[in-house]
Amino acid sequence: MQKTAPPKTYRVKSFGCQMNVYDGERMAEMLAEKGITEALEGEDADLVVLNTCHIREKAAEKVYSDIGRLTKGKTQKKAPMIAVAGCVAQAEGEEIMERAPAVSMVVGPQAYHRLPGMIDNAVNGVRSTDTDMPADAKFAELPSRRKVSPGSFLTIQEGCDKFCTYCVVPYTRGAEISRPYSALVDEAKKLVEAGAKEITLLGQNVSAWTGEDEAGRKIGMAGLIRALAKDPDLKRIRYTTSHPADMDDELIDTHGEIEKLMPYLHLPVQSGNDRVLKAMNRSHTAESYLKLLERFRAARPDLALSGDFIVGFPGETDAEFEDTLKIVDEVRYAQAYSFKYSPRPGTPAATMDDQVPLEVMDERLQRLQASLRRDQQAFNDASVGKTCEVLVERKGKLDGQWLGKSPWLQSVHFTGDVQIGDLAQVELIQAGQQSLGGRLLETVLA
Ligand code: 5AD
Ligand code: SF4
Repeated sequence: MQKTAPPKTYRVKSFGCQMNVYDGERMAEMLAEKGITEALEGEDADLVVLNTCHIREKAAEKVYSDIGRLTKGKTQKKAPMIAVAGCVAQAEGEEIMERAPAVSMVVGPQAYHRLPGMIDNAVNGVRSTDTDMPADAKFAELPSRRKVSPGSFLTIQEGCDKFCTYCVVPYTRGAEISRPYSALVDEAKKLVEAGAKEITLLGQNVSAWTGEDEAGRKIGMAGLIRALAKDPDLKRIRYTTSHPADMDDELIDTHGEIEKLMPYLHLPVQSGNDRVLKAMNRSHTAESYLKLLERFRAARPDLALSGDFIVGFPGETDAEFEDTLKIVDEVRYAQAYSFKYSPRPGTPAATMDDQVPLEVMDERLQRLQASLRRDQQAFNDASVGKTCEVLVERKGKLDGQWLGKSPWLQSVHFTGDVQIGDLAQVELIQAGQQSLGGRLLETVLA
């Protein structure tokens, strides 16, 4: 590779989950610290970071086609310096370096604090790969938070020890680690000082977080939520994503006791059939999951529920899939994500017998999504007439229109005299499946 001028502008393109969005923001902050500024919309960037996701199909292919478009002048006029980050980098780093000479660096999700040094290498004509997984080294080396949105993310936990048989995360993100309590309290404070009104605690298994508070007491995520809720300038707290196995009584109680903890729970079930759940190595049954939800709903009756589903796991029969429709009918999710099973290299399910044909998966997914759409519409319909606080996040497409989130994480649009970051008092007046229309009553907080 040739020596090149140091990049002056960057663009970070994040795919996949919210943890990647968070990592993308932290990388951007690091690049800014190095004096590299964000390329404006429509402008060429000198450095492009592809922050990739490996959870489902064709992730790697997408990366190669993105690289191709960047180097062939299809995305921007001049080919940039390219960094591949995220979970595809972790899983297929060596191969990317071999197959794509245009890539200057490959950096895994646990090593991106070393990006600045890798950029220096690239300037000197040296390509580098870093897919190390040093436990908890990354965060301590990142610059502090500055540019934040009213609804900000805070990664408190990374990695997963659950080893669901379909999932690549335990391999790409590594073993579970919890960030220390003091670092999180400190980062939350910085986020709030920089304008965050809502913080979503993030982790692949967020409720598996553990730490020690100021007094040296062992606490779980519920304790962390209670501590963060004491900051008067932080108005809302959320967390995602949880595994049913890590939901304890204290967390359930916290939903009933802490007003700032929003009435929304993303708790993936994946399937409604116990044989499939066992083959997935999920530790819950359909019944234990439903019982758990009952306890949450008892603590917080207006809780909106969200879930993840996989259709067509190897060996899933028609009758077993029907059980998934049944659990959906029972729970009535406010919102959900559903996917066709995708064999991930290196996971146990990828080599199981009886892989389900694509046409069968397509049909099942359509049926499942019809049920989920029905329930989302019903949940939104039932919200009409309610008055709630909407956190204003951005301008809408229409003149004078604003977009924000209700406590139940619904997108709400309305017009009126507010600004980004306001918590506006809004009456919900009209419901679509994906969003609601509201009428501004008054602005509560600027
Ligand atoms: N195929 C399809 N969906 C998957 N997910 C994870 N791995 C796979 C896979 N191999 C889904 C699960 C998980 C969500 C983040 O992605 O539903 O909860
Ligand atoms: Fe993947 Fe299961 Fe861990 Fe979630 S709990 S990240 S689905 S292995």
